Formats: sequence, structure tokens, C-alpha cells
Amino acid sequence: MNRIDAILRDPVFPRIKAAVIGATGLAYYADKDAALAERINRRLSDKPTLGLGAYLAQLAGEGPTGPEYQALINELTVGETFFFRYAEQFEALCAVAIPECLRRNRESRLLRIWSAGCSIGPEAYTLEILLKRHFADQLRDWQVSIVGTDLNASFIETARRGVYGNWAVRGLDPAVLAECFDRQGDLWAVKPRFREWTSFSVFNLVEGPLPNYPRGLGALDVVLCRNVMIYFDEPTRTRLLENLHEVLVPNGWLVVGHAETGQQVNSLFTPVPVPGATIYRKPRPGSVPPAAFPVTLPVLAPPTLAEPKPAETKSAEPKPAKKRNTATDSAARLRASAAKPPVPLTAPPTTAPLSAGNTPTGNPAVADGDRAAALDACIALAERNRLDPVVHFRLGLLEEELGVGDPIAAFKRALYLDSDFALADYHLALAYWRRGKLAPAQRHFRNARATVAAHDATELVAEGGGLTVAELRSMIDLWFSGEEP
Ligand SMILES: C[S@@+](CC[C@H](N)C(=O)[O-])C[C@H]1O[C@@H](n2cnc3c(N)ncnc32)[C@H](O)[C@@H]1O
Repeated sequence: MNRIDAILRDPVFPRIKAAVIGATGLAYYADKDAALAERINRRLSDKPTLGLGAYLAQLAGEGPTGPEYQALINELTVGETFFFRYAEQFEALCAVAIPECLRRNRESRLLRIWSAGCSIGPEAYTLEILLKRHFADQLRDWQVSIVGTDLNASFIETARRGVYGNWAVRGLDPAVLAECFDRQGDLWAVKPRFREWTSFSVFNLVEGPLPNYPRGLGALDVVLCRNVMIYFDEPTRTRLLENLHEVLVPNGWLVVGHAETGQQVNSLFTPVPVPGATIYRKPRPGSVPPAAFPVTLPVLAPPTLAEPKPAETKSAEPKPAKKRNTATDSAARLRASAAKPPVPLTAPPTTAPLSAGNTPTGNPAVADGDRAAALDACIALAERNRLDPVVHFRLGLLEEELGVGDPIAAFKRALYLDSDFALADYHLALAYWRRGKLAPAQRHFRNARATVAAHDATELVAEGGGLTVAELRSMIDLWFSGEEP
């Protein structure tokens, strides 16, 4: 019997497994006994006489920050990361979230960002690079802090050094590489001027506690927690999301990995769809997070686009396939909509609780996730209120979400009844774009832009769940960046 088999058969193994998962949250290993045993074996290879029982006692004695626990964590954690990973999410931050933070904090002149589970640091440095390259003027005299944290202390050491191999900078635009990095032999060192706001520390997302003001983890404007929760089980994810919600300021922004979106995030945060990405916003106090609305949406492959083009913060790296998160996009709009008459561009934010009684369809079945009933109720509502643009708009969202009916026709009806319905134009444009119909998509993005142009940046967009005109403009501008004024 080899060592790994012996570990697997040892009666202490399940206890070590439970202890390690409990301490790190890495439930990923719950059904990967062989992988876990192999990693434990790596740690035991130079301690041939140490039995599993004694090893467990050592781990329990020192806790996750102890040297042996950290060495094991080193073996267990997956630190894959690179600069400008998921560039479209950074584009969304630049187009929507950061400008909103700049407006909101213009008096305090504070901007606080957290890269939670930052691995060796590229995500945190990418943020400083973006802020310095795109918002340098606005951020003059501001106090900016970008904190990167990780469970793995050796990742944090690497992050603090800020020196990387080719793998971490793969695909970066050569101009960005030259501007932001110093060549050190085969390596790339982040230039000192892009390391002024960024700091790193070891922090276990599972243990907390949060907020943790001494570490800069409180009253945050933006949190990125990407590709970390995929390794956790559902209760751990839920606890973590609640903590992230807690550390964000009202209206603060959350970015999660593409595989980490879904109902758990939606139940606490408002999804804000932008082309290529969905970012999340903590609702203001008094407003209620969107009700859970579990829908599995058709994922429509995005057409190859000559236009519209992605936004300003380009990197030359091959972009990962863009996942169209149509589920959360449309569900967000539905959830964000209170049963109020349409007052495009001046409607107040949704503050009424989204209980069964005032879900978009007014049908309790929506809250129960009964999509068929929701659709039936929405159709019935549209039939009874043929002249109400909002019900047609909501029907369009629901149909788009469920991949049924004719959402384009529903959005058109909304616009026929109210030609100034900016979000109807926006969603009609998205619907065309998803179907590869670029010319009408372009036309309706233009219409939406023209409609909002006449309005003050701080006005709220009807049916936008608190979305401001400025934010909608930024979202629309993503489609036109580099093309039109
Ligand atoms: C795949 S990396 C993601 C890096 C970066 N966020 C990105 O998306 O490019 C996942 C990171 O989560 C960290 N991690 C896992 N469990 C953690 C925990 N309980 N607390 C803090 N960090 C954790 C790992 O050490 C690893 O560095």
C-alpha cells in the first residue's frame, strides 16, 4: 500500500479533512479525497514517522496561521490569477462603479477598495493601474486605499514584492506593460507609482471577523471577490456574502467571478448589467434587496462584433469567453421594479419591500420561483393594462429571461406607448445584440442615449431600481467608446 492509500484509509483522515475544510472554507476538497490525501502526503514526505493523528494535533494546535498549516494551505489553494483578468469587469468598474464612487464621495475624498482572495496580487495592482491611468485628475488629493488579502501567506509575500513572471502579465497590451512595469531580467516589477495605494495582508475570509477596520476592511466602496467562492460550500458562501454586504457602504459595489453569480448574490445585491459583465450593488438602506427569483436563462452566444467596441480599459490579452448573464440582468430589472406607474427618468427608487404582493407581476408565485405562473400573470397583466408601457417592459424582461415569447415585440410595445422610456430602448438594444442584430441594437442604444441626454446626471431612471442617468449613460457609452463623441 502506498503512502497516499494509507492516508486515505487512516481513520483520522476524515477528521483532518473536516478540520481543514472548516478552517479554510475549501469545501472543494469535500469530494476530492485523493487530491487532498496527495497534498497531505506532500507535507508528510519529510516526516515519515509522523502519523496522521499527530499531524492533526499539530494543525489544531497552531491554527491556520501557523507554519505547518500555512505550508498545507500552500498546497491546497489555487492561486491562478493574472493582470486584467476578466477585462470586461474592469471596464464595467471604470464605466459605472468608479465614476459613481467619485460622485458619491466627492466631499470625503476617500475611496476604499478590497481585493478579497487576491492571490499573488495582480487584481489589486490592476485596480491601481486603472485608477491612475483613467481617473488620475479626479483622484488628485484623494485618499485611496486598495487592500489585497489572502489566506495564503506566501501569496501575500509575493504580492508585496510585486514582481511577476510572464504568466501573470500574459496578453497585456505592450503599451500598458511598458508604462506600468519595470523589466527585471525575466521578470516584471510593478512600477513604484502603481504601488502607492495598494497594500496586502493575510486574512481568512472564513474566520472573519468583518468589518475589520484596522485592516482597512470596513466602509468599502468596492469589493472584488472573484474566483474564491467557487471553492466554498453554500453555507460558507452565504456567510461570506453577508459579510461582504456588511463591509460595503450603502450603494457600494461588489464584483464576483463569472461562475459565482446567481441567486445567492442576487438575494443581497442588485445586479447592474453592463455589456459583457454584471456587477452588483448593495442597496441603499430602506430599499430591499431584490427578491430571489431563480431562473435558468438561455445563454445566448454573443455575436462576433465589429461594433460596438469594448470600453477604454483595453488589454491585449485574449479575453475569456464572455458569459451573457441574461438571467440576472433581466431578473434584476424585474425585481427592481415596484408596481408603480411609469414615470421615465424621474421615477423614485424602489423602496417598497418586494414581497409576493408587489413582485413585478403581483403574483405570489414569482417569489416562489414559479416561473410559468409568473409569466402567465405578467401576460394577463399586460392584457389588462394594454396602455401601460411598464407592464409591456416587464413582460419583455421576463420573456427574455425565460427564453420564451417575443421580448423584442414587448419592448417595442413599451416604446410605442412611451417613446422616452430609456431602459426599454436599452433592453431592446441588448435583445437585438444578443441575437446578432447589430444595426437595430446600435439604433436603440443611440435612442436610449438621446433620451437620457436631456436629463440631469443625478436623476433616477424609471424602472432602474435606483440606477441614475449618469450610470445608464456610462453603460450605454460602453457600446460607443472610441467611436462617437
Ligand atoms: C483562484 S484565486 C483568485 C485570485 C483573484 N481573485 C482572481 O480572480 O484573479 C483564489 C484565491 O482565494 C484564496 N482563498 C481561498 N480560500 C480563502 C479563504 N478562506 N480566505 C482568503 N482567501 C482564500 C486562495 O488562496 C487563492 O489565492
